[in-house]
Amino acid sequence: MFSHRVLNIEMSGIRKIFDMAKGDVINLGLGEPDFQPPPEAKDALYEATKKGYNKYGPSRGFEELREAIAEKYSKYGDFTADNVIVTVGGTEAFMATMLSLINPGDEVLYPNPGFVLYKPHIMIGEGKPVDYPILQENEFVPTQEDLQDRINKKTKALIVNYPNNPTGGVLQEKDVRMIVDIAEDNDLILISDEVYFHLVYESEPTTLLGKYDKLIFINSFSKEFAMTGWRLGYIIAPKEFVEQIGKMHYYLVACPQSPIEYAALAALKKSAYYTEMMREKFRKRRNLMYQLLSNIDGVKPNLPKGAFYMFPKIEIDADPTEIVKEMVRRGVLCTPGEAFGSAGKRHIRFSYAASEEHIRKGMEIFDEVLEKFR
Ligand SMILES: Cc1ncc(COP(=O)(O)O)c(C=O)c1O
Repeated sequence: MFSHRVLNIEMSGIRKIFDMAKGDVINLGLGEPDFQPPPEAKDALYEATKKGYNKYGPSRGFEELREAIAEKYSKYGDFTADNVIVTVGGTEAFMATMLSLINPGDEVLYPNPGFVLYKPHIMIGEGKPVDYPILQENEFVPTQEDLQDRINKKTKALIVNYPNNPTGGVLQEKDVRMIVDIAEDNDLILISDEVYFHLVYESEPTTLLGKYDKLIFINSFSKEFAMTGWRLGYIIAPKEFVEQIGKMHYYLVACPQSPIEYAALAALKKSAYYTEMMREKFRKRRNLMYQLLSNIDGVKPNLPKGAFYMFPKIEIDADPTEIVKEMVRRGVLCTPGEAFGSAGKRHIRFSYAASEEHIRKGMEIFDEVLEKFR
């Protein structure tokens, strides 16, 4: 009765673990900022509905918003509104990209551990998902060999995600060159998921945008302006890609949400300070969590340079998924690294999109829970 497309994909197992939590919880499992959208954006949303922006809009998004997006990234390349599609979050951007680029049997490389959408989206596109490891000892960046070893004549595209979920890894310029060289040498399409572009702590963002001609750059308003529930994202790509992906996007969603586009434009114009405020809060919380984790025996934390996740390795002889279950029973939500792929098996993901009080309490409970397993 059901399609092989749907039967071949599974619901994420994370929910089941989270359902074990009872009462008030300390949520270190969040994949979104624990802030509300900037006030200017909320006001603009209300204004948009009053002004009548409640109808279908242009399929690829309002011209003014696409221009503003092109302008925002102008230092990385000569982009215009014609290079932009406004999408229903990074999620739809990704789905439309897969459905427009992948033919049955095409191989697509994706990171392991990696964001949970990649594999199912490749499969829905009827491609063959091929994972590549990103490991703590390599700063969560793939090695050239690990990529090269997985490339063959059927390899069509390479997905990269920096700043990275779940690890917090970022790219350095040398990594960008290595990835672009590999893509060029093997004539691959690069799909760069940069939804955490604005959340880097040590330097300016290192982006793949403007570095390669067959690049699909995916970004989102979700994390930049804490608008995850408003579901707005975008693609920047060469025009020939925009033409084809734009068609698919039309048949998937018709158009993005008009009032949200209006609000996102206001945020782009007025709310950079807000992203900066969140980034500074995340930086403090990151430092706090790192310091607390560093004092816990049997755990090897990394100091993440981007996003809002810590992905420490569990060095004691115990199954991290069992540790997470015990944490959840004690009221602290966090995510087993395994949920992001086999290479995450020895890790736990903690989100520091949480208050300092919750981070302190959560790490205290983590130490107590680990004591039972040591
Ligand atoms: C790496 C990564 N890519 C894409 C997304 C999708 O974001 P959205 O659809 O809200 O833009 C997320 C959300 O958590 C993510 O972590």
